[in-house]
Amino acid sequence: MAEVKGTGLLDRVLSIEIARVTEAAAIAAARLRGRGDVKGADGAAVDAMRRELAKLSIRGRVVIGEGEMDEAPMLYIGEEVGTGEGPRVDIAVDPLEGTTICAKAMPNALAVLAISAEGGLLHAPDMYMNKIAVGPGYPEGIVDLDRSAKDNLEALAKAKGVPVSEITACILDRPRHSDLIAEVRKSGAGIQLIPDGDIAGVIWTTDPAKTNVDIYLGSGGAPEGVLAAAALRCIGGQMQGRLMPLKDEEKKRAKEMGIDDINRKFSMAEMASADVIFSATGVTDGSLLDGVHFRQGFAETETVVMRAATGTVRRIKTTFRMIGTKAGL
Ligand code: FBP
Repeated sequence: MAEVKGTGLLDRVLSIEIARVTEAAAIAAARLRGRGDVKGADGAAVDAMRRELAKLSIRGRVVIGEGEMDEAPMLYIGEEVGTGEGPRVDIAVDPLEGTTICAKAMPNALAVLAISAEGGLLHAPDMYMNKIAVGPGYPEGIVDLDRSAKDNLEALAKAKGVPVSEITACILDRPRHSDLIAEVRKSGAGIQLIPDGDIAGVIWTTDPAKTNVDIYLGSGGAPEGVLAAAALRCIGGQMQGRLMPLKDEEKKRAKEMGIDDINRKFSMAEMASADVIFSATGVTDGSLLDGVHFRQGFAETETVVMRAATGTVRRIKTTFRMIGTKAGL
């Protein structure tokens, strides 16, 4: 088994420890599922994630977080997390991916975290990113952000050995995607429109036989783009992203975060290095993961933990005894 460069054995431990962090965030958010309280559920997930991160033996720095330091959120970009002992790592968090779907108790809300060796994750500002992603098994460069959706779908169909009509694209259901949706439909491909949650949308492309999603297309959050790239880096697949600043302020922010060329097309490898671990726990039931289930005195979670250096993908079902324990959940 190949060891992770620089961090060695510790990362093997971390790939289990990381699950505890997303499990705690998911349970905290799940308590507020379906309450219509977007901020409350997000806040609960952030608190729980921060509490668990503090226990990890790392010298961590949040590079994808809940906002800027001056906005005074917790898990802000630049915040130091962990015990202060152990490897220096970069942290990308999305304590509640799909705040609205959690508030409405709809499918596919997740608690998500990625940890990389220092410098291993793109420091993406909080703005939109145009994304394209496909799962493993295709020739490198089979799809490209700079080609039309029609060309990408035709190339993908050819490589898969099926007509375009047997290809399904996942796209966020947004008015800004109306032209893209029209183009995909004209090409003959199907579309799975999602209300939120494009990290899951990208991950679905890695198992089209189960999810019926072959390709992810369209724009969503840049932080979610980096987290999705981290997941794909572990499972395999191809992804590209390009920032879409809507105001000069966003261009300025990107520059401050070290992105000199705002038009740059980032490959998956440029967004997440090979030294990354990724964990997601379901908050609400979804096609990627089961959500949190509360039974008398117990909470059950399902988590997927992946490690890019080895390509290991673990699914962990955990039962927490909630009464008479220090679970603190
Ligand atoms: P939140 O969890 O922050 O609400 O994000 C949900 C999400 O759907 C992401 O998955 C996606 O990247 C982004 O919002 C899309 O942004 P918008 O809702 O502005 O289109």
